[in-house]
Amino acid sequence: MPAKVLSGKDISADIKTELQAKSDQLHEQGVTPRLMMVRVGEDPASVSYMKQKEKTAGQVGVDSETVVFPEDASEETLLSKITELNEDPTCHGILVQLPLPRHISQDPVIEAIDPKKDVDCFHPQNVGRLLIGNPYLLPCTPHGVQQILVRGGYSPEGKHVVVCGRSNLNGKPLFGILIQKRTGANATVTVCHTSTRDLADITRQADILVAAMGAPKSITADMVKEGAVVIDVGVNRVEDPSKKSGFRLVGDTDYDALVDKAEAITPVPGGVGPMTVTMLMWNTLTAAGVQSGIPVD
Ligand code: GUN
Repeated sequence: MPAKVLSGKDISADIKTELQAKSDQLHEQGVTPRLMMVRVGEDPASVSYMKQKEKTAGQVGVDSETVVFPEDASEETLLSKITELNEDPTCHGILVQLPLPRHISQDPVIEAIDPKKDVDCFHPQNVGRLLIGNPYLLPCTPHGVQQILVRGGYSPEGKHVVVCGRSNLNGKPLFGILIQKRTGANATVTVCHTSTRDLADITRQADILVAAMGAPKSITADMVKEGAVVIDVGVNRVEDPSKKSGFRLVGDTDYDALVDKAEAITPVPGGVGPMTVTMLMWNTLTAAGVQSGIPVD
């Protein structure tokens, strides 16, 4: 039987309905949840992601604005904008789109954001809180993965989750979420990376396999146990002259080959991607609630 398709688009739609209720609660109390996003330059993928974020914000009653600096803007310019937003009481969430141009160091920029407004959950204080099991917010993509699993009927509790990829954006924080002794987590988590030996021997042990290494179609059918649940975090642009844009998106797994072997699988696009944006709105509403003294959870 072909795998169940875990649609992040459908799960996102359910979560957005819940978020709208939280947003209504804030609006009724006179608070307009507001997300400020900052981009440096015109990286096409970043431009496209940010449009999606603005659109989703509008769908759940979050006011959003994108500030764009030219590619050659200085680090000081960016830092002074962050200071201004930190001090602005009408701004509840700050997102600086990554990657930044090479002349700007990422760490001081992330660390300049007020942790209370850090809706990406990238600030070291928030990463540390996540790891010790006392999170403020959860990072968007890993939280989206957890929500797909739980709401899709595949709770990771007691399962062996193998994560391929150790990035600060995905692999490491997903480990931090799923390892906790909590409902919807409580998994045995193995994190594999570029120096992992005998990768396929490990991935074949996974009840839940998460592909987050940023390499197109690199998880093949022989690397997956029959009946495993496969979550594909990859978003890779590959050339496709048949498309108007000249490219199409593929994940880190060989979806067509896995669909007959896995119990359930996320598509690309339409899987983890829409969840990331929705979880960003979740965080913005939570942050707005905390900052205005109106808890919405
Ligand atoms: N670039 C790619 N993904 C993300 C994300 O989740 N947040 C930010 N700030 N930049 C990104």
